[in-house]
Amino acid sequence: MNVIEKRQVAESFGRAAPSYDKVAYFQRDVGYRLMGLIPKKIFLNDNNTVLDLGCGTGYFTPKLHHSDNQVVGVDLSEGMINYACEHRAGNVTWVVGDAEVLPFADNSVDMIFSSLAIQWCSSYQQLLVELYRVLKPGGVVAFSTLLNGTLRELEASWQEVDSYRHVNAFSDCHEIDDASDLAGFTCLEKEKYTEVLQFESVKMLTRELKMLGAHNVNQGRSLKVTGRERILQFKQAYEKYRTQDGYLPASYEVLLSVLKKPE
Ligand SMILES: C[S@@+](CC[C@H](N)C(=O)[O-])C[C@H]1O[C@@H](n2cnc3c(N)ncnc32)[C@H](O)[C@@H]1O
Repeated sequence: MNVIEKRQVAESFGRAAPSYDKVAYFQRDVGYRLMGLIPKKIFLNDNNTVLDLGCGTGYFTPKLHHSDNQVVGVDLSEGMINYACEHRAGNVTWVVGDAEVLPFADNSVDMIFSSLAIQWCSSYQQLLVELYRVLKPGGVVAFSTLLNGTLRELEASWQEVDSYRHVNAFSDCHEIDDASDLAGFTCLEKEKYTEVLQFESVKMLTRELKMLGAHNVNQGRSLKVTGRERILQFKQAYEKYRTQDGYLPASYEVLLSVLKKPE
């Protein structure tokens, strides 16, 4: 992802900041599961510096606060950071920054929490080297991300209509494992699962993605406005997935991981 595409990601999330929390029930569930995996020793230490990386509206950021620790919410999107700063109470510092080029010194952070943000980065290799750099020896990163196969029904339905890319490209788990090994991390926890969300209509699914700011910014997407005829074809193609219960499924492949920088 180049600089312009990153700017588009930041602007899209910024526009979605006021609507994000209204529809982010899946994101909250993933974040709570991830919190449950953080080693208590790291989580509850008073003197720690903790980052919420890709903090978005800052829903989880104050929850990382404990006694005298320092909590910093970081996000690529200025709009998200402004929203978080205005709406979240607590002793948190808010910083606009890119996960792949963090504005923090080497060996300065004890824990990084990052939920459903790093799938928007350009390269897991660059990202994990950067996280390793800012973590202190013995520091921990707990992240959740989305894997290949996410929104597969949406992607397959569009493939019946045209050859543009309509869904972001998600990585395979082994690509992330290789990048974390290369960076020098040890894996403490790893969980993978599939979550299938249900929608009454395609319109409700696409409206929700818009309210979350989760826009397709990949190379290969169409830069033209999609015509009515094609949208209709796409909706008809998606109808094939309607279940006996009467819902349209949208699958998410989730990875939860806790990595440690060796002492
Ligand atoms: C789906 S939201 C998740 C927000 C929050 N962590 C949550 O669980 O509700 C993804 C967030 O990641 C941020 N983001 C995307 N790319 C980023 C990057 N390279 N560095 C930092 N934040 C990034 C977006 O701006 C957005 O706020």
